[in-house]
Amino acid sequence: MTKPSAPLDSEHGAAVYSDRVLKIYDRWVLGFSNNYAWKCPTDAVLLPFFRQHLSSNHLDVGVGSGYYLAHSSGQPGQKVALLDLNDNSLRAAGSRIAHVQPSLVRDDVLHPAGALGGRKFDSISLFYLLHCLPGTMTEKARKVLSTLVPHLTPGGVLYGATILGEEANHNWLGRRLMALYNRKGIFGNRHDTLASLQSVLNEYFAKVAVWQVGKVALFRAEMPLP
Ligand SMILES: C[S@@+](CC[C@H](N)C(=O)[O-])C[C@H]1O[C@@H](n2cnc3c(N)ncnc32)[C@H](O)[C@@H]1O
Repeated sequence: MTKPSAPLDSEHGAAVYSDRVLKIYDRWVLGFSNNYAWKCPTDAVLLPFFRQHLSSNHLDVGVGSGYYLAHSSGQPGQKVALLDLNDNSLRAAGSRIAHVQPSLVRDDVLHPAGALGGRKFDSISLFYLLHCLPGTMTEKARKVLSTLVPHLTPGGVLYGATILGEEANHNWLGRRLMALYNRKGIFGNRHDTLASLQSVLNEYFAKVAVWQVGKVALFRAEMPLP
């Protein structure tokens, strides 16, 4: 008999983002770690990718410090919603883009309480969210996509980036960070693979692109399946 899998525990992947951690987040994660551990530079790869698909009706999920939105000029009449489980992240990101009056939505992508209601968006970003979540890529990505896809307009795009697991063949620094973060539950990505991400996206979308830069998987998905 197969054992039913335990419910995915969301707490650890979000709890670490205190005000103090968020203050150093841009320098430590987006500056140092992305360059030297994950080999996927923020300024040359991730920020241009974020900007490329940002629409005037956007939902950012797993907002952290709000760096990407703060460094994107936005479109005329820009509407932005921020969704996160952690109030500190929502506050930090929200205050950085206060000029666009973002709507702040506190909810859990794994166990949503329906805080987004019936709202729909032309673009949804999830940068560095999946690797923070527990469970296999198949389990967690299915939960996240079941939560988010109903909020994407038919012509919309869902896109993001996530640090891959051991298959990425991490360098010395990456292996140390992976071991520490997975032990503490800050990451849950030890077994995350590019192929499993691609295959879950294919369950929800007719048009999917997944590629790798350094140790990071980037993805873009369009044409949600009915
Ligand atoms: C590593 S940060 C990513 C920040 C930003 N997107 C970036 O790429 O720099 C992960 C964010 O996801 C949020 N988060 C983690 N688990 C979550 C969950 N189950 N539901 C919603 N947000 C979650 C955390 O609170 C945190 O703000």
